[in-house]
Amino acid sequence: MSDSLNDLKSKGLYRKFRVLDNSVSTRVNIDNRTVVLFSSNDYLGLASDLRMKEASSKAALSWGTGSGASRLISGNTTLYTKLEEAVASFKKSESALVFPSGYSANAGVISSLAQEGDLILSDALNHASIIDACKLTKAKVVTYPHCDTDFVKDYLDNSQKQKRVLVVTDGVFSMTGELAPIPQLCKICKQYGVLLMVDDAHGTGVTGPEGRGTLDYYNLNEPGIVQVGTFSKALGGLGGFVAGSNLLIDYIINHARSLIYSTALPPSVLASDCEGIRIISEDSSLRIKLFELIHQLRDGLVSLGFPVFPVPMPIISILIGDVSETLSVAQYLWDKGLYVPPIRPPTVMPGESCLRISLSALNSAEDIERLLWAIKAYYKKGS
Ligand SMILES: Cc1ncc(COP(=O)(O)O)c(C=O)c1O
Repeated sequence: MSDSLNDLKSKGLYRKFRVLDNSVSTRVNIDNRTVVLFSSNDYLGLASDLRMKEASSKAALSWGTGSGASRLISGNTTLYTKLEEAVASFKKSESALVFPSGYSANAGVISSLAQEGDLILSDALNHASIIDACKLTKAKVVTYPHCDTDFVKDYLDNSQKQKRVLVVTDGVFSMTGELAPIPQLCKICKQYGVLLMVDDAHGTGVTGPEGRGTLDYYNLNEPGIVQVGTFSKALGGLGGFVAGSNLLIDYIINHARSLIYSTALPPSVLASDCEGIRIISEDSSLRIKLFELIHQLRDGLVSLGFPVFPVPMPIISILIGDVSETLSVAQYLWDKGLYVPPIRPPTVMPGESCLRISLSALNSAEDIERLLWAIKAYYKKGS
């Protein structure tokens, strides 16, 4: 263990917790100082929203703090029914199923859908929870080059008939904020009669005209797509979900081990998750504010010479490449009171270390100005 930790330290890849002693907002106290946070996935600031807190505390007072058992035993309350109906309606699907987390949703859904003799085609930049979920199956897993839809098509064209084929992609890639080519993948999957699964952890609540996610952004209404998501990001809570047909949900309830063998979520969490969906469905003001900030940051970065992806998202990453250089920029920003996390392997591929800036509707225009000023100052200092 020591050798392994020393090895990580020598490569600049050692990680340790930072401890916050106030709630996750955009001003957080870490190591006895207050910094502006640019690292949370709480894109709309719902995790500290009074409406969410009230929903959560009310449920805890009337239902208690724990659920006592897994859902198929006695942990399945009407709070689940209400939440799953809300998710299905939000995602325009027939049905939905809530899991303890997004990680366990991916584990449960992928391991239910793919078994020995099946094939999974997975994007090279998919989230670790998808990669781990693929490892849980005995299916053949082929990692396709990032967003390379020609590769997917050619592979399906040339491969022998498998029992079942699952193409899986993040909707919005978690480290770069780039959108996946869902319409093209959807077309290919339909042509070959194979399943498409989209993990829209980062699109849900943010993108599309009503914040419903990536499929809505693309105006795709395809009931056959398996939609996975999480409450832990824009929805300001905890838990994962899958949305799709009644048949799909029934099948997953009966096969997903991460659902069957894990205790149901506590009432307080289910209630605030439900409130998160209600707020996003009825109140677009936070999303509007978020997008103003996103545009301000993108414009500023472009004027400093940094490239940005065509579709605005609250995740904007600056590719640096080298680990020690990435740590050095992050440290410079930290010294200026700005917390932008350095992202290193194994989260990204070697040579692709980056700064991952994530924005919240609770950030201010001044926060963005400060960040842009500090980035500019760092690069001026270096040149
Ligand atoms: C794309 C993606 N899928 C799944 C997850 C896991 O979700 P959760 O944090 O709810 O377990 C994350 C986030 O960590 C993610 O970025």
